[in-house]
Amino acid sequence: MQIFKSKKGQIIQGNSIELLSDRYRNEMKGKVNLIVTSPPFPLNKKKQYGNEKGEDYLKWFVELAPLFSDLLTDDGSLVIEIGNSWEAERPVQSLLHLECLFGLVKHPTANLRLIQEFICYNPSKLPSPAQWVTVNRLRTVDSYTHVWWLAKSDFPKADNGKVLRPYSKSMKALLKKQSYNSGKRPSEHHISEKGFLTDHGGSISHNFFEMEPLDQKREVRLPHSVLSFSNTNSNDYFLRTCRENGVTPHPARMSGGLVNFFIQFLTDENDLVLDPFAGSNTTGYCAEKLNRRWISFELKEEYIKQAEIRFGEPELDSPLTLD
Ligand SMILES: C[S@@+](CC[C@H](N)C(=O)[O-])C[C@H]1O[C@@H](n2cnc3c(N)ncnc32)[C@H](O)[C@@H]1O
Repeated sequence: MQIFKSKKGQIIQGNSIELLSDRYRNEMKGKVNLIVTSPPFPLNKKKQYGNEKGEDYLKWFVELAPLFSDLLTDDGSLVIEIGNSWEAERPVQSLLHLECLFGLVKHPTANLRLIQEFICYNPSKLPSPAQWVTVNRLRTVDSYTHVWWLAKSDFPKADNGKVLRPYSKSMKALLKKQSYNSGKRPSEHHISEKGFLTDHGGSISHNFFEMEPLDQKREVRLPHSVLSFSNTNSNDYFLRTCRENGVTPHPARMSGGLVNFFIQFLTDENDLVLDPFAGSNTTGYCAEKLNRRWISFELKEEYIKQAEIRFGEPELDSPLTLD
């Protein structure tokens, strides 16, 4: 079993489900403040994921509920990123991800509930499902993933003041001028006289994110109110070093911005963050930079090797801010 250790955490090679149900169970039970992960996705190729396979996937997925619930602290959170899937050889979206979500929250012993769903929009997403989008031109590009925030209590640890988005130009001007039109809006909302005059350092985030596009110079299509994450920077240390060493980066990496957001939103320094399906270990890397303890599991040795690249970053110790 290969293990890589850093100052704040470790990545362990092996089947997380087996290891967390057995060898690491007692050690970690009730101690994890945040699980943040993107599980292996069901694919829509008939051979791999026909109906029966879909059923198998669902069964496998739902059984994660009691396992993860058991590991979490009472005020801990489980954050899962999952994409849409499509029926094999049909231009029809699969309901598998919804069944998975229902399975998690309805599991009789896990006691999990959906706290909030987030949508992660990727403007640079390649057209998929390709057959129906680019060949037959019957469907639009499937361009977002779901992020489910689940917990064992209605009040998991959370502070939206830690993940503020920058004020817009008009809000900055308003704060400077110290006046605006109060009163009733057409939407029936009543805007108080002074409610918007205090500078809180930023405005409250929405449950909708935009992944910043590959073309950093393009015009922004969405309003400023959407938090954009710059994770696709092809010049970051990890991607640059992978390129220089002929390593193919993990094809399904999570956005660092997304992971940073949830770590900052839902944990404090030195809390414990777990990723049971670590891949290139975006989670461990973000946790390290944010001074949280972390533990990750990954089946494949090649991904553990590339995860190690992240920890050679010269600026690893410099503090990370949400921007
Ligand atoms: C969607 S990828 C995660 C990518 C990761 N979030 C990143 O940023 O690089 C899922 C990963 O889970 C791993 N995996 C699948 N089943 C596993 C298991 N039972 N235990 C540990 N790792 C597993 C796969 O090898 C794959 O690398």
